[in-house]
Amino acid sequence: MKLGVIGTGYVGLVAGAGFADFGNDVVCVDIDAARIERLRRGEMPLHEPHLQDLVRSNMQQRRLSFTTDVGEAVRDADVVFIAVGTPSLSDGNADLSQVLAAASAIGHSLNRETVVVTKSTVPVGTADLIRETIERACDRPFAVAANPEFLKEGSAVEDFLRPMRVIVGIGRLGRPITEAEQRARTTMRRLYEPVVRTNDRLIFTDTRSAEMTKYAANAYLATRISFINDIAALCERTGADVEMVRRGMGMDSRIGPKFLFPGIGFGGSCFPKDVRALLATAQRHGMDLPIVSAAYQINERQKTILFDKMVGHFGGLQSLRGRTVAVWGLSFKPETDDIREAPALALIERLHAAGASIRASDPVALHNAARRLEGRAELLVDPYEAARGADALVLCTEWRQYRQPNFRRLRELMAGNGIFDGRNIWDGEQLRELGFRYHAIGRPQPPL
Ligand SMILES: NC(=O)c1ccc[n+]([C@@H]2O[C@H](COP(=O)([O-])OP(=O)(O)OC[C@H]3O[C@@H](n4cnc5c(N)ncnc54)[C@H](O)[C@@H]3O)[C@@H](O)[C@H]2O)c1
Repeated sequence: MKLGVIGTGYVGLVAGAGFADFGNDVVCVDIDAARIERLRRGEMPLHEPHLQDLVRSNMQQRRLSFTTDVGEAVRDADVVFIAVGTPSLSDGNADLSQVLAAASAIGHSLNRETVVVTKSTVPVGTADLIRETIERACDRPFAVAANPEFLKEGSAVEDFLRPMRVIVGIGRLGRPITEAEQRARTTMRRLYEPVVRTNDRLIFTDTRSAEMTKYAANAYLATRISFINDIAALCERTGADVEMVRRGMGMDSRIGPKFLFPGIGFGGSCFPKDVRALLATAQRHGMDLPIVSAAYQINERQKTILFDKMVGHFGGLQSLRGRTVAVWGLSFKPETDDIREAPALALIERLHAAGASIRASDPVALHNAARRLEGRAELLVDPYEAARGADALVLCTEWRQYRQPNFRRLRELMAGNGIFDGRNIWDGEQLRELGFRYHAIGRPQPPL
C-alpha cells in the first residue's frame, strides 16, 4: 500500500518506518525542514532504540522517504496518518491546531479515495472535526479513522511492531456505516495484518470509543502511579516500606506488578497532558472525574517530594543556598531523550531558585536539556564528574547505567553525604554503611 505520515516525531517516525518495514511505500512529511534534512541523511532527530536501523534499512530499500511537501505524502495514498503533536492549552484542553492544519493540508491534496487516520492522541469528537475540515477543502470521497497509538518511548519500535492491541475506530455509533467506511475497514485490516497475524488483537470500533480508549488507558495508568505514590507517603509516616508493599500487592494477579513503582511523579509528553485533556473534556460535559483529578493533584505534589526532602536534609530552605547538587537523569524515563514535563527539570528549577548549583548528567538527553536549563545547571557527560564536589546526589531517572554505581568512588568524590534516590533503586543499608544519608520514596528515612 502507499501510505503518507504527517509528523515525524516519536509516533510518526516509528509508525512510518514500521509500516515501511512491512513492505508498504511510505512518505513521511514534516513542517520542520531541518528535521527532514537530517532524516534524509539517515540521522535520527530523536533517541529511540533500534529506530535508526529500521529507518536506514527501509530508506535503502526505497520504501521510506521524507519530504516537507504534504502533497507528495498524500497524493495517491491509500492511507494517510496524522501523527502531529497535541500539546496542552493553558486551560488543559488539547491544542488541536496542528491536527486541523494537517487535516486541511490533506484535504487540499487528496486525489483519490483515501483513509485519513489519526494516530495523534485527540479528544472525543476530533474525527468529526477532521472530517468537516477535509470536506471544506475537497469534494472527493474519503473516510476518517481513529487509530490511537499506544507505543511507549524507549521501546517504541518493539511496541509498534508487536502491539498489545490495535484499536481502529470508524463511523459513529447509531449511524449506519457507509460504503467508504466499509472499504476503510478492509484497508485498515489489510494494513495491520502483519502485526496481528499470530494473535488477532485488532479491535474495530467507532471513532469516539477509539479516541476515548486512549485517554482512559493513560488516565488509568497515571492513576496507578499516583495511587502507589500516595501509599508511599503513608508508608513513610507509618514506618512501612513501600517496596515491600508494592511487591506484595503486585503478586495478586488481579492487580499485577506494572505501573506500581513509587517515584518523583509521572512526566513526559503524554500522561500529564492527556490527564489534563480528559479532565477538560469532562468539564465541558458538566462532569468531574474525581479519581483522575486526584491522580493529577497527587502527581503535582509528588514532583516536589525530593526538593522537600532536600530542604529537610540541609536543615531549611535557606541552607540550600550555595550547595552543590548532582542530578543523575534528565529524561522523564530511561531509554529516551524526551524531557517534556520531566520531573528532573522541575526539581532543578526549584533548586536553582533556592540558590543551589546544579551539576547534571544524562546518557542521551543533554542536548535536549541544554537550552531549557541554560544558566541553571552545568551539564556533564560523565555522571561521576557531575558528582564531584557535590553536597548531595539525586537520582531522577533510573537509567541502567545508574543502577549499580561505584558508591565508594562517589563517597570520595562528593563533598557531602546526601543521596536522594527518586526511583528506589539503590540499597539503603549498603549506602548507610558507606556513610551516606540515604533518602528514598516511601521507605525508612534517616533521622533528621
Ligand atoms: N510520544 C509518545 O510516546 C506518544 C505515544 C502515543 C501517542 N502519542 C501522541 O502522538 C502525537 C504525536 O506525539 P509525538 O511525541 O510523536 O510528537 P512530536 O512533538 O515528537 O512530533 C510531532 C511532529 O509533528 C510535526 N508537525 C506539526 N504540525 C505539522 C504539520 N501541519 N505538518 C507536518 N508536520 C507537522 C512537528 O514538526 C513534529 O516533528 C501526540 O498526540 C501524542 O500525544 C505520543
